[in-house]
Amino acid sequence: MSNLAKQQFGGDWTQEKLHLLGKYLKAYTTIMAKQPFKFAYIDAFAGTGYREERADGDHKNSLSTLFPEMAKEGPQGFFEGSARVALGIEPRFLKYIFIEKSKERSEELEKLKQEFPDREIHVKNGDANNELRMLCDKNENWRGQRAVLFLDPFGMNVEWSTIRAIAGTKAIDMWLLFPLDSGVHRMLTNDGKMSEGWRNRLDLFFGENNWREAFYEKRSQKNLFGEEEVTRRTADYQVIEDYFVKRLESVFEKVAQRPRKLYNSKGKPLFMLCFAAGNLKGAPIAVKIANHILKEPRHG
Ligand SMILES: C[S@@+](CC[C@H](N)C(=O)[O-])C[C@H]1O[C@@H](n2cnc3c(N)ncnc32)[C@H](O)[C@@H]1O
Repeated sequence: MSNLAKQQFGGDWTQEKLHLLGKYLKAYTTIMAKQPFKFAYIDAFAGTGYREERADGDHKNSLSTLFPEMAKEGPQGFFEGSARVALGIEPRFLKYIFIEKSKERSEELEKLKQEFPDREIHVKNGDANNELRMLCDKNENWRGQRAVLFLDPFGMNVEWSTIRAIAGTKAIDMWLLFPLDSGVHRMLTNDGKMSEGWRNRLDLFFGENNWREAFYEKRSQKNLFGEEEVTRRTADYQVIEDYFVKRLESVFEKVAQRPRKLYNSKGKPLFMLCFAAGNLKGAPIAVKIANHILKEPRHG
């Protein structure tokens, strides 16, 4: 194992997310193995195959430097990451597509081909948004094909246009780790003042700018010199959750109504694990299974 592959950590919430993902993958392949479809697993922020340290080299975009405690969460350990979890699932997927921006991490993923020589593994060293849009935009190719996609970014890297393209295939079940306290909630300043960069990032992330009205209220307030308009954040975690579930519903066939919040050791909901299904026929059962998994009691 190289030094890179050894830079691992596993926090409770990381373990929880992978446990829940694994449960869904198992249920999915068990059902799909009896169906006539070709079905793949796509991991768009794949890492190395082992659990990741938060040193993605993309601090400007992921905002991870703003939230350094994310890097300190959880005990050190050598555990399987999502790519390995997926490779361990029986019945197997017919194809595994791992997308990873870092060249070194992609090289680690390439090694999985030797370790699992009887699997069809494709490693794409590139940006998840670009690679996914390319994969999904070929809509006609999705006939007869299905996939589960895991989107597990460090921060706010997923763009709404990517989510729309994923839903547009009408063939993909998507699990997405939404950066709740670790991203969106912290970016929404109390008085609504934020840099243009943050505003643009939120626009790209939500695919619209209505979040400003959804998350803030404007009021007139009297002061010595008359009246002034003040802006105040009204959005708590629940408002953000409801807003995002509605956004997903605007493009997917069916969406799990209650994403699972993943808490850090201080009780902050760092992320929420969201699920959405794109296929008209498959969505009801997919969401039923996902809901069941999302409601599973927390361990420990
Ligand atoms: C949270 S880690 C993924 C962990 C992985 N799912 C696991 O369970 O082991 C996020 C990964 O996304 C990669 N990454 C960051 N930005 C990316 C982008 N725009 N496109 C593709 N990969 C990216 C990072 O290099 C990092 O390996």
